[in-house]
Amino acid sequence: RERSDGMPNRQRLLVVANRLPVSAVRRGEDSWSLDISAGGLVSALLGVKEFEARWIGWAGVNVPDEIGQKTLTKELAEKRCIPVFLDEEVVHQYYNGYCNNILWPLFHYLGLPQEDRLATTRSFQSQFAAYKKANQMFADVVNEHYEEGDVVWCHDYHLMFLPKCLKEYNSKMKVGWFLHTPFPSSEIHRTLPSRSELLRAVLAADLVGFHTYDYARHFVSACTRILGLEGTPEGVEDQGKLTRVAAFPIGIDSDRFIQALEVPQVREHVKELKERFAGRKVMLGVDRLDMIKGIPQKILAFEKFLEENPYWRDKVVLLQIAVPTRTDVPEYQKLTSQVHEIVGRINGRFGTLTAVPIHHLDRSLDFHALCALYSVTDVALVTSLRDGMNLVSYEFVACQDSKRGVLILSEFAGAAQSLGAGAILVNPWNITEVAAAIGQALNMPAEEREKRHRHNFDHVTNHTSQQWAEFFVSELNDTVIEAQQRIRQ
Ligand code: G6P
Repeated sequence: RERSDGMPNRQRLLVVANRLPVSAVRRGEDSWSLDISAGGLVSALLGVKEFEARWIGWAGVNVPDEIGQKTLTKELAEKRCIPVFLDEEVVHQYYNGYCNNILWPLFHYLGLPQEDRLATTRSFQSQFAAYKKANQMFADVVNEHYEEGDVVWCHDYHLMFLPKCLKEYNSKMKVGWFLHTPFPSSEIHRTLPSRSELLRAVLAADLVGFHTYDYARHFVSACTRILGLEGTPEGVEDQGKLTRVAAFPIGIDSDRFIQALEVPQVREHVKELKERFAGRKVMLGVDRLDMIKGIPQKILAFEKFLEENPYWRDKVVLLQIAVPTRTDVPEYQKLTSQVHEIVGRINGRFGTLTAVPIHHLDRSLDFHALCALYSVTDVALVTSLRDGMNLVSYEFVACQDSKRGVLILSEFAGAAQSLGAGAILVNPWNITEVAAAIGQALNMPAEEREKRHRHNFDHVTNHTSQQWAEFFVSELNDTVIEAQQRIRQ
């Protein structure tokens, strides 16, 4: 089929996510600087040759004026990005409110916010209305750019309503939806006032994907128990219409990390870090500063370890990179001060005039600095209270092929299902257990480290983000073909 834009005949993929892989900062009335983030999804899709991806999402900035919207749209088009413009009020109610104050904590088993549980049904309703409105705005933009034969891949908890909106526009659109967070037990999901509407909206997709088999099972149970639909080995069936539900564990672009270690700037940085921490073992945490990451629990476990093991006090350092995130949501603001307070107390308790046990940074590091840090790390600590997958654990493993460092990994991260045999698995709520795991990791014989690392490294390099994306899209294409065949029969 000839394409209207004269492009070669690769299948077009419209990737729709709340955030574009580019964030825009305004420099003047019609001038923008664009900051590209090569996150997991971007590198996954860059490596896939079969289709040509376009991105649709929010540029993370309020652009009320027409000139600004026009010029930004033009600049983004060069990066194959198409913006959805959300005004401040919608962002507040949809993104800060419904997405990050309600769905995010609920899906990570932190429950609904107290205020909403008690009296503010009105604010809950207005946030849900804004959520639907925002999803409809994304759908409008997708519909405007859609061409027959395109695959539309919707991402994450921000866009659970999108499959429904898209199918209302065009029931023939191929629509997939993938959740990057856990999907909780149906007993948790059923506490959500809008539980049924959300499930039905997701079920409008042709294919629904999760990181783990457990999340997929929870979703199917929610549909059977809450909506009374039929769960089948293939997915969920509603009056003869099947929505396929399956697990597609994501990975990373491992080559990108492995190759970065050869870059002169990274080697230089590695050398500096080794000198800086000579004579001490390096433990590392890299997290967004989010309640689900279990940062206070991790630091308290480290304190317990130091308390019980005086020998290690001047021989180990914990570097915690805590990347600020969602700073307009009050829960996140409280967390920042809580973490600072704990770090200050422990450094006061165990620090000396020349060294402190914890280096805590409230900022992100660039890609090369991060790779250097991963590669000098002896023990990585991932103690998420819940986490869809957690790719920091994968990135650490990819950068460890010469060192064979140890990964301590929460059993509540999706990654525990794939890296569990190589990591030391812990319950992050049990501080005594995590402290003991730190001791085990620091004292682990080289032979055991080698064996565990080999397992993890093989997994990380053989399950890449490119394979994940290819697999999802080919399953989506097949699902639609099978559904058409069923209708013809
Ligand atoms: C998680 C979500 C993503 C989100 C990211 C950063 O990984 O699954 O959808 O983009 O956090 O959060 P933010 O709110 O800054 O986009």
